Amino acid sequence: MKIIPFLNLSIPSEAERLELLNAIDTVFQHGRIILGPEVSEFENTMAKRCGRKWAKGVNSGSDALYLCLRGLGIGPGDEVITTSLSWIATANAITLTGAKPVFADIQEDLNIDPISVSRLINPKVKALLPVHYTGKICNMEKLQKIANEHNILLIEDAAQAFGAKRYGKTAGSFGDAACFSLNSMKVLAACGEAGFITGDNTTLQERIEWLRYNGTINRESCVEPALNSRMDTIQAAILLKRLSNFKKKLTDAEKLQHFMSNFSKILPLNQK
Ligand SMILES: Cc1ncc(COP(=O)(O)O)c(C=O)c1O
Repeated sequence: MKIIPFLNLSIPSEAERLELLNAIDTVFQHGRIILGPEVSEFENTMAKRCGRKWAKGVNSGSDALYLCLRGLGIGPGDEVITTSLSWIATANAITLTGAKPVFADIQEDLNIDPISVSRLINPKVKALLPVHYTGKICNMEKLQKIANEHNILLIEDAAQAFGAKRYGKTAGSFGDAACFSLNSMKVLAACGEAGFITGDNTTLQERIEWLRYNGTINRESCVEPALNSRMDTIQAAILLKRLSNFKKKLTDAEKLQHFMSNFSKILPLNQK
């Protein structure tokens, strides 16, 4: 029986393999395996790309969501409005903070419907967590308006949306903070697990820095209990390399999309 992989994660291009191996070798040589210089470079690059004050690398998109919500003070007794049309990580991250995920309806584009969100607002709602489903950015203008009117937080689950834009504004630049996944199946992919959080609020930045390392602020002091969610330097090195080829990947995808849309125009409907 021949097994056809859902997504082939091997790297057939020898040139790309050598490029990545070189990047990994640099890490082996300097030896700063966790939160090394490549992680800082990656964080600075991501903050700039998203037009944010900071970005923090973590070891998955799931961790990004959980740490971001927790860092923003979401907890027991709170409600967070999101969508059920996502990977389970979105609802799990809310639940793990002790808050309750509340699911709004979706609209035709499969993204969360702001009208449905409005109907769910009540004093317990502390945040909106829209998911840019399959990379299409939600109606962030309307969601921001709702968040402002009710003084609640707006956090992007941009796990599937790296590189996406809405009216020229990039995923990760909306609301109070944004969370990305960079797992091996994403458009910008690590060779393993990785993610990052981005935002402007420096209190959140500081809290994420300790939440991602067992709640410690130095070798002596743990300020609150947390687990270990730091980013591996090897993944950051791979991501930086892949980022340098990302523009070409995006242009190729756009060209393919353009070609396919022209192609579908000349086919009868039942052949599409
Ligand atoms: C919308 C969404 N949120 C969160 C996640 C979790 O990301 P990760 O797999 O990096 O933990 C994913 C992963 O696919 C996702 O698609």
